[in-house]
Amino acid sequence: MNKRFWSGLCFLSLALTLWAEDGSRLWLRQTPVNQASVCCLVTSPMLTVAREELAALWQGGEVDLQLCADETHRRLGKEGYTIRTSEGKTVLGAATEQGLLYATYHLLRLQAEGADCSQLNIQEKPAFDIRVLNHWDNLDGTIERGYAGRSLWKWEELTDSVSARYREYARANASVGINGTVLNNVNASPEILSEDYLQKVRKLADVFRPYGIKVYLSVNFASPMKLGGLSTADPLDEEVARWWKEKVREIYGLIPDFGGFLVKANSEGQPGPCDYGRTHAEGANMLAEALKPYGGIVMWRAFVYSPSDADRAKQAYLEFQPLDGRFRDNVMVQVKNGPIDFQPREPYSPLFGAMPHTPLMVEFQITQEYLGHSNHLAYLATMWKEFYRYVQPSSLKGVAGVVNVGDNVNWCGHDFAQANWYAYGRLAWNPDLSAEEIAREWLAQTFTTDRRFVEPMTQVMMESREAVVDYMMPLGLHHIFAWGHHYGPEPWCKVPGARADWLPSYYHQADKEGLGFDRSRTGSDAVSQYPDSLARVFDSLEQCPEEYLLWFHHVKWSQKLRSGRSLWDELCYKYQQGVDDVRAFQRVWKEMQPYVDAERYQAVAERLDIQAHDAVWWKDACLEYFRTFSKQPYPKGVEPPV
Ligand code: GCU
Repeated sequence: MNKRFWSGLCFLSLALTLWAEDGSRLWLRQTPVNQASVCCLVTSPMLTVAREELAALWQGGEVDLQLCADETHRRLGKEGYTIRTSEGKTVLGAATEQGLLYATYHLLRLQAEGADCSQLNIQEKPAFDIRVLNHWDNLDGTIERGYAGRSLWKWEELTDSVSARYREYARANASVGINGTVLNNVNASPEILSEDYLQKVRKLADVFRPYGIKVYLSVNFASPMKLGGLSTADPLDEEVARWWKEKVREIYGLIPDFGGFLVKANSEGQPGPCDYGRTHAEGANMLAEALKPYGGIVMWRAFVYSPSDADRAKQAYLEFQPLDGRFRDNVMVQVKNGPIDFQPREPYSPLFGAMPHTPLMVEFQITQEYLGHSNHLAYLATMWKEFYRYVQPSSLKGVAGVVNVGDNVNWCGHDFAQANWYAYGRLAWNPDLSAEEIAREWLAQTFTTDRRFVEPMTQVMMESREAVVDYMMPLGLHHIFAWGHHYGPEPWCKVPGARADWLPSYYHQADKEGLGFDRSRTGSDAVSQYPDSLARVFDSLEQCPEEYLLWFHHVKWSQKLRSGRSLWDELCYKYQQGVDDVRAFQRVWKEMQPYVDAERYQAVAERLDIQAHDAVWWKDACLEYFRTFSKQPYPKGVEPPV
């Protein structure tokens, strides 16, 4: 075949790739019009980004970027800004370049949503200083709990080749105010701190810097042994402390604005200070001391549980609460939102509020490990807002989100999973925003501003997480997932020799009397880890919110719930409700076809089909299994398994 044929074929495949990449543009879909006149007296890499974005995309005429040292702007801090309309011009003001960058993206977002930008008077500052993503990416390109392809970081190509996607990633983050990223898995390979990898990390940091994104690394606590050849990693050993100081000096020599370390220690087999009889505080403080001179921080995770007799839901509190006040000021204790592990619904972790003398960060999971991976539509902003109903944002120093991006064309696997990345960033900036307004603004930017699309799809998104809870584990049930992959149901799971707390029966406690984990005062007493007023509510079978009922109580099958139905009947109705909701989402999506490009329409439709199938699978599997204990028939209106 001749050359022309091949080049024609190449062109065609390139065109097809471009055409097929509709999901790749995330919520940043405005096309350049190159109309704006942008005035900015200062030049820098970050301001070049801001200027170029505005010059290409802004359609509102003249725009001024001003670095301001006045009281108003100083009060808005290192990242805050104002946007004002003045004498026919749009003026973006901030005390820092980073503030101006965020102002730029805010203005462009308003334009993309179709808002009136002619009379603006806006002041903004973020609620938290630390707004980071956590990548659980391994150095071999796999991603722990990742469902959108392989890692974005092409370690083997770095430093020779720098993928264009790194910049797009940084831009997407900056557009929602995310200001840091932890590049590698919390189950960390010591290799990440080798000279070779640090050079690669430096390359990424260079790409991210103009977008205001700091780089952080997860570190393996035993690195001084595994990488440095020392005989111990004891944090009180002088040689160990010296090794870390040296390593930190090397890092800052390459990356002067390096953010710091994230550490998973003495958790799920990871090494840590407790291996040497030291506390988590002693381990964290040793690292904090090495980072302190450079302004770096340690994010020390509180995700610990061991095969002890104590209820797993109580363990992080038992281990960390007594350490309150014992951490250096540049240590943040990073606590998962709930006491177990990113379940579709958990009460908040009682560590929040119990460590007033320790800077705390909350860790959310954006990747849907326990919510249908990238097959199910589950908008998580409603879940994160639920957390803030109980935990004051002002009690936190920062937020971390275990992110859902990979090297898939559309970044997140499911087009609607992009909304979770987006919403995470928006809530990290301002947790007072409603889940609904974030859904609306994401839909308007990502698909169309047409209300006939935005309104019904906002509704779908708002109901989606509750639907997942209903068809997977309603009424406070938790962790009845299949072994290992956490996708489907397996409440009956038995693995010979496995730890009790790794088996679903530990969590659901089904027996012929009833269902649920008794964490009341007469049970494991986990309720007592909450403030008194709340402990009383959770402890009482009558007052406990029904969404947490089986989390805190072992309830009789015949117990009447608020609906007047027995526990068994209510459980059946909830599972059915979840299934019905997903079928309703399918119907709404069918009506959305005129507003969506064919590629994304099809992709979402196919995934909704999978979700509807899985919802029935969950309902049938769980109800059939629990029926072996309840011995009761399916109530009217609930589809029995086929
Ligand atoms: C969960 C998850 C693991 C992860 C762990 C963690 O248990 O399944 O893959 O490593 O959380 O947060 O450290």
